[in-house]
Order: sequence, then structure tokens, then C-alpha cells
Amino acid sequence: MASRDKSAWDEPPDMPVGHFVSGDVYTDPDIYKDESEKIFAKAWRFACHDSELSEAFDYRVFEQDGQSLFAIRGEDGVVRSFLNVCSHRGAKLLDQPAGNAKLITCFYHRWTYDSHGHCAGIPRASGYSGGAVSKETMGLREVRTEVLHGLVFVTLDDSVPGLTPFVGKALDRFAEMLTGQPLEVFHYNRVVLDCNWKAWHETNMDLYHEFMHVVLRKTQVNAMPMKDRKLVVFENGHGGSGGALKAAYDGYKGFAGRGNDVPPLPGMGPTDFRFINLFPSTAIISRGHCRSY
Ligand code: FES
Repeated sequence: MASRDKSAWDEPPDMPVGHFVSGDVYTDPDIYKDESEKIFAKAWRFACHDSELSEAFDYRVFEQDGQSLFAIRGEDGVVRSFLNVCSHRGAKLLDQPAGNAKLITCFYHRWTYDSHGHCAGIPRASGYSGGAVSKETMGLREVRTEVLHGLVFVTLDDSVPGLTPFVGKALDRFAEMLTGQPLEVFHYNRVVLDCNWKAWHETNMDLYHEFMHVVLRKTQVNAMPMKDRKLVVFENGHGGSGGALKAAYDGYKGFAGRGNDVPPLPGMGPTDFRFINLFPSTAIISRGHCRSY
């Protein structure tokens, strides 16, 4: 096929609309704005792991769409989430990524809030007499929060159906590994990718991307024929590996001496791996340990 100049390159394919994906879905700011309003503002999204809030009043700050929120465990054991914004003049309440606070005190004018989001104290409250400002009316903006298999999810929309119908069967094959023994977060890493959010998920769903990784070319590509690898798409846009995929970890040069006797998570074979993309923004990848394939 001959090379194309700019106008030919910009031409849509000669096929009916709906039969191809426009590149605009990765680059058009208006499409992204639409997605923010119609998807991200409504979907259930992962916030943190239950174990990060193991004690009463433990909190964990997280971010969604540039908006700071926090989850906190109450003295009743319930995890609740709130916008990380003071009800007085909008100052950011919690500055640390995690901690424990029976009362949350705003640095600005010292208003305080409890783990239920109630406004617990307003200094010099008499100064507001005659107005609409009182402890009773100035609680935090609570965000719907549910926990499934130890994973804490939130949604900014008060009216969408609950987390369980949203996730459907997508986490069934992860339930045993997520709940079969106590888990804890031992490492946190933040990487900002300069790409559209869909590109990351599509790459994760595309098993041919293994060829791009030096290590995976050695440990995965030859461990299981491509024709035996199954992908499953669930309702609400979730998708991932159907059965357990396999890896031959001893194909990796640095395999020897890495401490290969750690048992895999419950429900996982030593050379299994599986993954799930939860629409729109969560990916879970689970691997057995590095015992010989
Ligand atoms: S902004 Fe928080 S107390 Fe005033």
C-alpha cells in the first residue's frame, strides 16, 4: 500500500460508522470531558485496601480525577469516605497520605470533624449566630463506600446501583485469593503515564503485549500457547483472564536465588497468573510464586 499524505491519513476508513474506532477517543479533550462526567463521576472505583484501615480512626487519603478524598474507619468498624474538603471555606483537611485521627482538625480555622463526617466543633461558634452555620448543618460531604473482598470502592454518584451488581461476576475468580488469608499493603508506587486511560486497559487486555517485555518473552510467551489463553468480558465493561494463565518463571535469568519457596496466594497454583480489568480504572494482576514451571 502506498504511503499517505496528511489529508489521506486523516480520512476515516471507508466503512460504516460504528465499524471502526476513531483515534479521537484517545486524544479529543471533549470526549475525555464527556467520559469524566458520564463514566468516572458515576462508576465505582477502587480507593484502598481494607487492611490500610485496620484500626478505628485509621484514614487513607486518595485521589480521583484530581479530587482529594479520604476513607476512614469509624469506632463502629464501618469504613466511610468523604471529600477531603472542609465544610467551612474549602481548605484541604488531611495532608498526610495516611494516619489515625479520632478528630480531624482543619488547619485553617480549627473546625473539627469525626469519623462519621459530623462536624464536631466550631471555635467561637457564637460568632455565627443568626446565620445558617452550625455543627448540625456543616458535616462533610460523604461519598458512597462499599467493601468487597477487602477492596474499598467509592462512587461520587449517590444514585447508581450498589457495588455488587456493578462488579457482577468479574471478581469471582479472585475471591479466594483476596480473602483466603489476611492481606496487607507492603508497597505503594505511583506512576503517571502520559496516555489516555483506555490505552492502559486495552494494552493489559491484549495478550500479545507480552512480546514487548524482555522478561515476559522469557517467562510467559512460551509457557502457554496463545490459542489456550482465554479472555472473558463481563457485564459493565469488566474483562480479564478466564482461566489461570501460566508462566515459566525459571526462564528468567535472575530466577535462581530469589527465594522461590513463598507459597502462592490461596487458589493460585505456583505458576499461575490471572488478571482482571474492572471498568473503568482498576486492574488486578495476581501471580503465583517463582517455583519452577
Ligand atoms: S476552612 Fe476549615 S475551618 Fe475554616
